[in-house]
Amino acid sequence: MNMAVQSFIEIGLLADIPRLGARCVRTPEGRIAVFRTADDEVYALEDRCPHRGGPLSQGIVHGSSVTCPLHNMVFSLKTGEAEGADEGQVRTYPVRIEGERLLLHVDALRALGA
Ligand code: FES
Repeated sequence: MNMAVQSFIEIGLLADIPRLGARCVRTPEGRIAVFRTADDEVYALEDRCPHRGGPLSQGIVHGSSVTCPLHNMVFSLKTGEAEGADEGQVRTYPVRIEGERLLLHVDALRALGA
């Protein structure tokens, strides 16, 4: 039994997400926004802006950041931290790319529900 593989769940294919776009994944613990940058890097963040709950999956991706669609706060996709003068933190989740498949770390999800 390979624990390293088992702790990840498949959430779709890289091709499912447009470049500079995002896709929302529903999990028992809530919605997670999975973003793809222009360089085909993939990041997973809670799909909820810490400001007033805006859906970050509908935001604008630029570089390795996303701008919230509601009031334009900008968050790092890498750390989930607000950029510029704003303060706030979005929860991030480990995601990895295996070939074309996207895998999300489930232990992080379980920890949320615990
Ligand atoms: S809800 Fe995201 S900036 Fe206000």
